[in-house]
Amino acid sequence: MEEDNNTKLAKIAQSLIPIGKGILAADESTSTITKRFELIGVPSTEETRRQYRQLLFTTPEIEKYISGVIMYDETIRQKSDNGESFVSILQNKGIIPGIKVDGGTTPLRVGSSELLTIGLEGLPERLASYYELGARFAKWRAVFTISDEFPTSECIEKNSQALALYAIQSQQAGLVPIVEPEVMMEGSHSQERCYEVTNQVLLQVFKDLEVQKVSYPGMLLKPNMIVPGKSAAMAINPYQTAQKTRALLETVVPKEVPGIVFLSGGMTPVQATENLNAMNKERALWQLSFSYGRALQEPVLKAWNGSRGNESTAQEMFLERARLNSLAVVGKYDSKMETMS
Ligand code: G3H
Repeated sequence: MEEDNNTKLAKIAQSLIPIGKGILAADESTSTITKRFELIGVPSTEETRRQYRQLLFTTPEIEKYISGVIMYDETIRQKSDNGESFVSILQNKGIIPGIKVDGGTTPLRVGSSELLTIGLEGLPERLASYYELGARFAKWRAVFTISDEFPTSECIEKNSQALALYAIQSQQAGLVPIVEPEVMMEGSHSQERCYEVTNQVLLQVFKDLEVQKVSYPGMLLKPNMIVPGKSAAMAINPYQTAQKTRALLETVVPKEVPGIVFLSGGMTPVQATENLNAMNKERALWQLSFSYGRALQEPVLKAWNGSRGNESTAQEMFLERARLNSLAVVGKYDSKMETMS
């Protein structure tokens, strides 16, 4: 008998979270990757972006630690120097190709500094074509800023509804949705305030996912960790981050969701690894892993610096960061293992 769609989705979701592996978020939009390249003085062209992503995807043995890669529309259509598509390179390593499908953000209303993630128009057609290209999972990111008056309930509700619509449409197209509601680290708020806002956001998101009848075993959640704002006076340790983050997730995330893959959101690469490790010191209801962008790529970008001659050193940095995060997934990382950063 042919497997039903939900069973297929649940299998894909499970293959994205095997013990000791996580996801590489290499789905920076052209404008975001251009900003990252500017920091290292590299011009952002289709060709430099291709060379950089090729470096990541062809890193020898990366499949030991990486289960899936989220790509951007331009990247999923690109090929390596020898003409092999990136999708095929990843598939041959047993890595699942994924795709960012949101269309970025726009002001929530004229003059508002809050943002609404857009991209629902024509989404079913785009999802079908990404499936044809080989993608088996999709990602949509909504962002929430914290201040005395933000986020507003309008911002939470509209973004949450869009996330749920994207999630069900992805499942209908055979793609596992990675639902990413990101409460941003910008600001001087406390860890308690981050907890309160993330709680509010996740409660709304799961309410809307329920309304849309999204199948939980066939999705993954990609949240922020519960940390104080970047410019907050009080720093906290990984244990405190892990304790609050797990406490919140245990209250709001249904146990049928198989995995939670954190974003790094501006934490340093070492902080992101330390926090994930602390989170995995005890078994959780779900697999707790990573779907890091910056925390996996920062040292790689610096080592690469736009030069082909630096590619193998940059690949070593990437492999090492991925290996350390893989250890963090099983709670066996120690910051004394840091030799490269
Ligand atoms: O949407 C953001 C990426 O998927 C995760 O990036 O780890 O740098 O926050 P980040």
